[in-house]
Amino acid sequence: MAGNITFSIIKPDAVANGHAGKILDHIIQAGYKVRALRLIHMTQGMAEGFYAVHRERPFFKDLVSYMCSGPCMPLVLEKADAVAGFRTLIGATDPAKADEGTIRKLYAQSIEANAVHGSDSDENALREARYFFAEIEEVRG
Ligand code: CMP
Repeated sequence: MAGNITFSIIKPDAVANGHAGKILDHIIQAGYKVRALRLIHMTQGMAEGFYAVHRERPFFKDLVSYMCSGPCMPLVLEKADAVAGFRTLIGATDPAKADEGTIRKLYAQSIEANAVHGSDSDENALREARYFFAEIEEVRG
């Protein structure tokens, strides 16, 4: 059964451009409950750890440097079938390919500076949520 927790980051481009409030409202209006939220400026080590699965990809170094370029907003979100529903809400990784009305279509700048992250599985949602909110014991899915 699909879990009810997903993890997101409102990324540095969206925070720097003043879109964080509008994106958060978009998420809440879509029925997600915000279970945890913080504003942080990631260190290189944090970004490398978070995206470790992509470390062999050609864009890894630039991705890490972009994610450390300014503050971002990690979020733990709750809704039925959270992971799949949230990926539909944010749209394709590349905003040029994202559907109309999705968060990336509305706010993203490029495939790298794509405004938001959304977990791709229940297992990753919990792992990612704990990466930023280790103190939250009730994040169990
Ligand atoms: P995200 O959903 O956070 O997961 C991995 C991130 O890597 C992705 O969003 C983009 O920010 C970035 N990314 C994925 N593919 C590419 C690519 N081809 N070129 C540059 N960045 C990418």
